[in-house]
Amino acid sequence: MRIVLVGPPGAGKGTQAAYLARNLSIPHISTGDLFRANISQGTDLGVQAKAYMDAGELVPDEVTIAMAKDRMEQPDAENGFLLDGFPRNVSQAEALDAMLKAEGMTLDAVLDLEVPEDEVVKRIAGRRICRNDSSHVFHVTYSAPKTEGVCDTCGGELYQRDDDSEKTVRKRLEVYHTQTEPIIDYYRAQNLVVTISALGKVTEVTRRAMDALKKSG
Ligand code: AP5
Ligand code: ZN
Repeated sequence: MRIVLVGPPGAGKGTQAAYLARNLSIPHISTGDLFRANISQGTDLGVQAKAYMDAGELVPDEVTIAMAKDRMEQPDAENGFLLDGFPRNVSQAEALDAMLKAEGMTLDAVLDLEVPEDEVVKRIAGRRICRNDSSHVFHVTYSAPKTEGVCDTCGGELYQRDDDSEKTVRKRLEVYHTQTEPIIDYYRAQNLVVTISALGKVTEVTRRAMDALKKSG
């Protein structure tokens, strides 16, 4: 399956993607995680991306599309993938369509996670991430680690993302409404969008997502 996950910052895309990718046996491809890996490795791409991310703005399309394309061309993505955070504007969606078309492929679904703004703000404020692996995500109240500041999965140090400050989150939400939401209409025109509520327990949301994907397939 080829799936795009869309939703505001803090909706739980990364959290759900980890479970869905495992259930569906496809790789989870997060452009945010790819950028963060580049930042921690100190690559040129990371240096370039960090300034935009810290400001809550989108990294330029040229850089982002090339990075996403490179990742989608890896052998593990041959039979499908779950895209998280890409595409993030209409021109990225058009670039993805062109990439898939060139390979004779299409998307199967666009899963839209709906969460009220006051809830995403709470989720982001309490989020803590593992230094060793950004797919190890916790929340100080909703899914607290057994030991404060320590990852349950690997023992790594938990930290708060630089772009999770209140000011940057406000900017990220604005960018989501103005630049990313229009891709939902773009994909609606292709009859690909399934919208679910991302409120409730993580496991409940995963079940809802799996049911919606089955129906759409
Ligand atoms: P990115 O990393 O993609 O961030 P985002 O879209 O803002 O999304 P988040 O990672 O903040 O949230 P999420 O929805 O994954 O939520 P999570 O599962 O962690 O992008 C960061 C930046 O990179 C962008 O601003 C941009 O600069 C750049 N970038 C990335 N892609 C780009 C692109 N394509 N083009 C240009 N620039 C790009 O959950 C949040 C918290 O809630 C966690 O603590 C979690 O434990 C908790 N939680 C999750 N589900 C539940 C639940 N059901 N109940 C209670 N708590 C929950
Ligand atoms: Zn960890």
